[in-house]
Amino acid sequence: MTILLTAANGRTGRAVLRALANRGADVKAFLRDEAQWPALNGLGATSFAVGDMEDTSTINAAMASCETVIHIGPPMHPNEVEITSRFIDAALAHGVSRFVYYSVMHPLRRAVRHHRLKLDAEETLIESGLPYTIVQPMRYMQHLGLIWNKVLETGVHNMPFNIDVKFNVADLRDLAEATAIVATERGHLYITYELAGPEALSQRDMAAVISRVLGREIRAEALSLEQMEKNARAAGAGDDRVTQMLTMNSHYDQFGFRGNPNVLRWLLGRNPNTFENYVKRISRCD
Ligand SMILES: NC(=O)c1ccc[n+]([C@@H]2O[C@H](COP(=O)([O-])OP(=O)(O)OC[C@H]3O[C@@H](n4cnc5c(N)ncnc54)[C@H](OP(=O)(O)O)[C@@H]3O)[C@@H](O)[C@H]2O)c1
Repeated sequence: MTILLTAANGRTGRAVLRALANRGADVKAFLRDEAQWPALNGLGATSFAVGDMEDTSTINAAMASCETVIHIGPPMHPNEVEITSRFIDAALAHGVSRFVYYSVMHPLRRAVRHHRLKLDAEETLIESGLPYTIVQPMRYMQHLGLIWNKVLETGVHNMPFNIDVKFNVADLRDLAEATAIVATERGHLYITYELAGPEALSQRDMAAVISRVLGREIRAEALSLEQMEKNARAAGAGDDRVTQMLTMNSHYDQFGFRGNPNVLRWLLGRNPNTFENYVKRISRCD
């Protein structure tokens, strides 16, 4: 049984690929560039298709001989619905028997565009008639990894949120394992799973955990949205991405992002990873 994995070269795609390879799955990686293949082959992909999510013909060609699709869209993409629809249409045309859609926790938060677009994409998938599984993952613990060197350097954990607003952050490794489980085991069709981490943590709580693990004080500080915008532009983000980030961060800042870990625990058959374990892992660099 071959699984077509989209966005395979991305942060989420690579984590899901590793989890699928651990389960011995036969994975065809959907890539933008053939030069990405050796690294993904090293992570366990068994074949690849070069394609563009905006190009129906490449999607159709990639779908050949695949029984399952795991579709992960590019983050905050304005064409999330159109892209997902292309994969759904190709899956229908090729008689795919399982379509796993990697959505987001609380897609019904319509004020945030990529949540709303994922909700619309979920609706399209459900109405397509394809046997589907939708996973709705919470914000990743791995966002800390992006600022980790800065945290070590400055002693400040600063993210663009009020330091007391709570998130049930989840370990991407757990989310990837759960995605691999629903894509390879029986009994997960026609269902939507909310996947959240085990603890509700504020930036202040996270800084306390990091302090405990490192044995030195790390202070939580809210990064201003102005500074976040400057950082994002310096990293190459365009106007659309910056606008979406500002909207998302203001929304999370106002309402928090809470969830319940029961479903993730049940799927994994163990407790989801704690933030403390994640921090221990990245402080050991493994
Ligand atoms: N971050 C979170 O906390 C979180 C939580 C829940 C859900 N999610 C969801 O997870 C998904 C993946 O996020 P991510 O951070 O893993 O993204 P990412 O690292 O930016 O990866 C996106 C991948 O998509 C590929 N891609 C982009 N446009 C493409 C196109 N037109 N055709 C073919 N491939 C294309 C990119 O290819 P290249 O490698 O060639 O650039 C890249 O490999 C998003 O839908 C996001 O909403 C994220």
